[in-house]
Amino acid sequence: MKRPWYNFIYVRSPIAKILLGGAALLLTLALFGFTFIIEEPRMEAQTNSWTGRSIEKGAEIFANNCTSCHGVDGKGLPGVAPALHSHYFFTQRLTDLGYAGSLHDYVAGTVAAGRPSKAISQWAQIMPTWGVNYGGPLRNDQVQDVTAFVMNWEQDALQQTAEEDPWQPFQDAKTTDISGTMALPPSAPADGEARAPQDLFTVMGCQGCHNLEQDQTADNRGAIAPNLGNLDTEAGNMVAGQDALTYVINSITHPNDFIVEGYAAGIMPQNFPDRMSAEEIANLAQWLLDQAAAN
Ligand code: HEC
Ligand code: HEC
Repeated sequence: MKRPWYNFIYVRSPIAKILLGGAALLLTLALFGFTFIIEEPRMEAQTNSWTGRSIEKGAEIFANNCTSCHGVDGKGLPGVAPALHSHYFFTQRLTDLGYAGSLHDYVAGTVAAGRPSKAISQWAQIMPTWGVNYGGPLRNDQVQDVTAFVMNWEQDALQQTAEEDPWQPFQDAKTTDISGTMALPPSAPADGEARAPQDLFTVMGCQGCHNLEQDQTADNRGAIAPNLGNLDTEAGNMVAGQDALTYVINSITHPNDFIVEGYAAGIMPQNFPDRMSAEEIANLAQWLLDQAAAN
């Protein structure tokens, strides 16, 4: 019988068969291993670029929605809203609160729900509700993006020394749970005596938004709110029929009645009349004008 031309592939020896089979198996395993080895970093790179994109999108969301209260670099505005880009926030904040979850979840949860009920706190502003699930303007993926952006400050924040750390102590730490309200600063002086205007300017967070030393001019405008350094010469010319003192008092009690050109309504807190007595507001207004005149 003539052997077919492909006879040479027949392997007769059982030992050779086992060896060949073994070699084939090893080759397959090696191929699997190889794909696995190159797949791992590939997936990591994929995840990294995905996280990178999320952080980038988050940066834009932060710039558009969060800087008016938390500051351009997230280091907070004194009296207005706390620092997030701080050593304290990344190392100590959750411990002080007794919060058991991760910081990531804490940020995402706070951003989504806000703290709308916390009308009175040490901060001049209220943390708004952002997540669509709570009736806010941001989609869930946008909440995640801005959370990724905030969390991305960690490395930088951990390198801050105590002096550079813009930590503004949270007065509710350890004393109330995070949803609790706290009468701070008090709505009116306990003993009925008016508090000093210079103290109110700090306690009420005015200084976080307004600069009292600098003039407000066309090429030197306050970033968040008008500089008040030349308030004495300007205040009387802002609204027809209002003298300087009336204008300043109205600016504090009804900020949205008149919006200084180039600034947004609703940034200046609307609840000062609940937090200061009429006498204190009048004193504060007069003090602002005197300070400006003395400049
Ligand atoms: C209108 C001012 C305002 C805006 C705008 C704002 N926040 Fe806040 N935020 C606050 C205040 C005030 C607090 C502190 C609330 C409190 O007393 O518990 C706060 C708290 C937080 C906290 C918790 C901080 C902590 O240590 O407990 C996070 C996180 C946060 N904000 C993130 C954001 C992000 C992200 C945005 C933008 C999407 C944003 N905030 C926009 C005012 C604001
Ligand atoms: C969160 C930021 C913020 C805080 C806190 C704040 N303001 Fe304002 N303020 C603004 C903004 C923004 C404007 C300009 C828009 C407007 O007219 O309401 C303004 C306007 C004013 C004006 C009018 C200025 C002008 O040039 O005509 C006065 C006066 C004033 N604020 C006083 C105060 C005092 C006093 C406090 C503290 C009791 C205070 N503000 C707290 C943001 C703030």
